[in-house]
Amino acid sequence: MRISIGSDHAGFEQKQALVDYLVGKGYDVIDRGPDSDDRVDYPDFAVPVAQDVADGAVDYGVLVCGTGIGMAMAADKVPGIRAANIITPEFAALCREHNDANVITLSGRFVALEDNERILDTFLSTDFGGGRHAGRVEKIMSLD
Ligand code: RB5
Repeated sequence: MRISIGSDHAGFEQKQALVDYLVGKGYDVIDRGPDSDDRVDYPDFAVPVAQDVADGAVDYGVLVCGTGIGMAMAADKVPGIRAANIITPEFAALCREHNDANVITLSGRFVALEDNERILDTFLSTDFGGGRHAGRVEKIMSLD
């Protein structure tokens, strides 16, 4: 499975650790930066990751900022993207099962790395439920 990942300065440390975590689990990871914890603007990193997903270059996108909120707002502006800001494993499962989320955004400041690893595990291993959820997701996508 291919994953594109990015962060801002507030998510940089966890992004680095999550790249190692995902590579260690055998995922094919594209790191869209940044390469240091110098102050940056999160939309500049959300868009390349979201574009990788929208283009079909990867299966999922992972974005980390202070809260995950700004990353979700920016990524969702890219046509084809359904980004979800997730802080619990339960919501990670539901954003895949019900919403077919293709980008997950994480908090590097308010959620511990070990918790984000569990959240990512759940996100990446949960399938879309389809059925009654499919038409709702289609209605979301018709808004692009
Ligand atoms: C950066 O200070 C912070 O605003 C950013 O990382 C993120 O939390 C925005 O949603």
